[in-house]
Amino acid sequence: MIKNKGIFNNIYKNLVTPILKTDTGIDAEYLTNLSLSLLTFCSNNRNWPLVSRMIENLNQEFCVVDNRLHQKICGIDFFNPVGLAAGFDKNGDAANIWRDFGFGFAEIGTVTKFAQSGNPKPRLFRLAAEEAALNRMGFNNNGAENLVKNFLKQGVYLKKNRKNNCLGINFGKSKITKLSEATEDYLTSIKLLIPYCDYAAINVSSPNTEGLRKLQDPILLKELLREIKNLDNCPPLFVKIAPDLSFKDIDDICQLISDENIDGMIATNTSLDRLGLEQRKIKQTGLLLSEENGGLSGKPLQLKANQIIRHIHNIDKNINLIGVGGIDSPNSAWERICSGASLVQLYTGWVYKGPQLVPNILNGIIKQLNIHQLSNIKEAIGSNLEWIE
Ligand SMILES: Cc1cc2nc3c(=O)[nH]c(=O)nc-3n(C[C@H](O)[C@H](O)[C@H](O)COP(=O)(O)O)c2cc1C
Repeated sequence: MIKNKGIFNNIYKNLVTPILKTDTGIDAEYLTNLSLSLLTFCSNNRNWPLVSRMIENLNQEFCVVDNRLHQKICGIDFFNPVGLAAGFDKNGDAANIWRDFGFGFAEIGTVTKFAQSGNPKPRLFRLAAEEAALNRMGFNNNGAENLVKNFLKQGVYLKKNRKNNCLGINFGKSKITKLSEATEDYLTSIKLLIPYCDYAAINVSSPNTEGLRKLQDPILLKELLREIKNLDNCPPLFVKIAPDLSFKDIDDICQLISDENIDGMIATNTSLDRLGLEQRKIKQTGLLLSEENGGLSGKPLQLKANQIIRHIHNIDKNINLIGVGGIDSPNSAWERICSGASLVQLYTGWVYKGPQLVPNILNGIIKQLNIHQLSNIKEAIGSNLEWIE
């Protein structure tokens, strides 16, 4: 086979990167939906000769295969530790294609029991100079039943028959459901999707659904998690937390995770803190970031999200951690792993840096394993080892 010479990376650098250099121009949500439509088409038609050739090329360009990157966590095979974070593929439209971008896993959702349109637009803003984003999407998604249909349409097999396509599903509460009835809302969606999800992420940390973060209160969270754990064939559970919790609140959640035998945590979601960007203006609305609603993601979140991973790992090494927030380079992914994350996820950094980021991170990790003479990525987790050039 002729070696693919970075065709997709070149296309991205020439067509998409220039758009991402400014806040204005093509709307951020429109651009996301446009790219997702293209990927949806490919995911739905993988077997068409032209599409299948394209996917083969994609695979060749972005996939890195190395046994040292493989981990089994809660019985799930993760062929590499880099995943797509929740929110990009909310309806699982392209669920069959993320592995071809080199991801070791993808988190689909957030999905809710009821279909919902989310907050009024515009609701996603680029902060180009800071390589960050502000979003207040509000769980726009087509609902749990539709996600099942979408999986069937793409030939996403039941998890027991799937090979090398690890999918987590992120569950949230529907906007119209009262907080006091949240448990039933989560249970309905999870029950429908159990056959498809390798793990379930319980999202109690989105800042864009009123009251949702109250479910991080240990008493409410315990009730919710107990009910979910009681489901037949309950998949491994990961609780996704906000970066705006105090360390004391995080300690209480960790205690609960340990007491209730929950499999792990995902840290973190987007931040309500403006992380030094309070005076930054959103060009489209003319308002300051301190005056805007929504969660901040990307580079400004890196430090905080890493501190939280380090904190959790220091207090309980048995909690499996997925680190997310501001990861945008091999160095920052390595730091997150050495702080205690077994797996990492990308969203904003992947958009700004392009799909080449995944193989760059994986090759960077392999290089560090060699330099530090480690035989598997597991040995790096929580090791505090430095990145060496
Ligand atoms: C546009 C957008 C939509 C998102 N939607 C969700 C979501 O539906 N559920 C969720 O758990 N996280 C969602 N997130 C948060 C990401 O999964 C991630 O936790 C956060 O952005 C930090 O990672 P990053 O700095 O790499 O983007 C969203 C983020 C963005 C930018």
